[in-house]
Amino acid sequence: MNLEQLSQAIEEERKVCLEEIKEVDNIDKLNLFKGKHIGKKSLLTELFASMRNVDANDKKEYGKMLTSFREEVNSLFVNKEKELADKKLLEKINNEKVDITLPPYSLPLGSYHPLTLITEEMVSFFKGLGFEVASGPEVETERNNFELVNIPSDHPSRDMQDSFVVDKGIVLRSHTSAVQSRVMQSANGQSPIKIICPGKVYRRDSDATHSHQFEQMEGLVISSDATFANLLELLTKVLRHLFGEKREVRFRPSYFPFTEPSIEADISCFECNGKGCSLCKHTGWIEILGAGMVHPNVLRLNGYDDNKVQGFAFGIGIDRVAMLKYGIDDIKRFYLDDVRFLRQFKKE
Ligand code: PHE
Repeated sequence: MNLEQLSQAIEEERKVCLEEIKEVDNIDKLNLFKGKHIGKKSLLTELFASMRNVDANDKKEYGKMLTSFREEVNSLFVNKEKELADKKLLEKINNEKVDITLPPYSLPLGSYHPLTLITEEMVSFFKGLGFEVASGPEVETERNNFELVNIPSDHPSRDMQDSFVVDKGIVLRSHTSAVQSRVMQSANGQSPIKIICPGKVYRRDSDATHSHQFEQMEGLVISSDATFANLLELLTKVLRHLFGEKREVRFRPSYFPFTEPSIEADISCFECNGKGCSLCKHTGWIEILGAGMVHPNVLRLNGYDDNKVQGFAFGIGIDRVAMLKYGIDDIKRFYLDDVRFLRQFKKE
């Protein structure tokens, strides 16, 4: 075969290929095309085989023509293959249309526990005033829970009826005041101390406003010049922050073994604005926390010189704040894990 004949043969085969590839509309037909025009039994392969009979001078040109035609047929094949793949993908996408009229599938979203919300609010308030957050164990020694905060062994709150005894000398802490002694002990007589400690406490107690488990926020400030006036101002601030700037705050003398003098704070009832209603038991006031100046015995018992430093402490019932703030009628709701109750609380 000379170059002229080859050129003709290629031209004819090209026409056939161009015609046939037009008809190819699926993968099977494409494979047939490949077998017929590129495969072992194709005219192309035959033409390559006939190279050996070609005149030596024409061999190079012959080879060139054939190679470039092979590339042409190959690209016909490759382009068609891509075209078919694209078509298939498009069909798939069209068939998989999302039905936006279906109701959405929503994942249940958790909410913050009301006690967590109140705790976080109080912690951020006190942190803003430079307090640090301290913590202590819920299973505590009688020494930390009672002795070191000046609660004598004949005090009623040491009675087995009132505190949960775990083992000899070990109780579930009955108040976060136990953390006072821990903090003072580990400060090794150094001051100032300015901490708060939120946490669970346990007492044998049960009615609508009392539970055997509840939460408190302890506060302790020890320094050379922490005064009773500072305490009153701080408590007024935190109570107004929690219950509204318009609340009146009233302090009454009280008694705690670890503070002297001791006080309790009331806020004017936010339900009736002090006129008297069932929430404030018709007194116009709601009792909210206990506090006082740290008793000299407590300072001494925990390694401080009561002539050099003084301080104050307070204990706020977190459950009580939450009950009042959210209008909750029974403290047990906090501990029943009823999602219908819990999901009503949202972080503001
Ligand atoms: N620990 C007291 C209680 O549980 C509260 C309190 C703390 C009072 C600190 C005064 C000072 O009732």
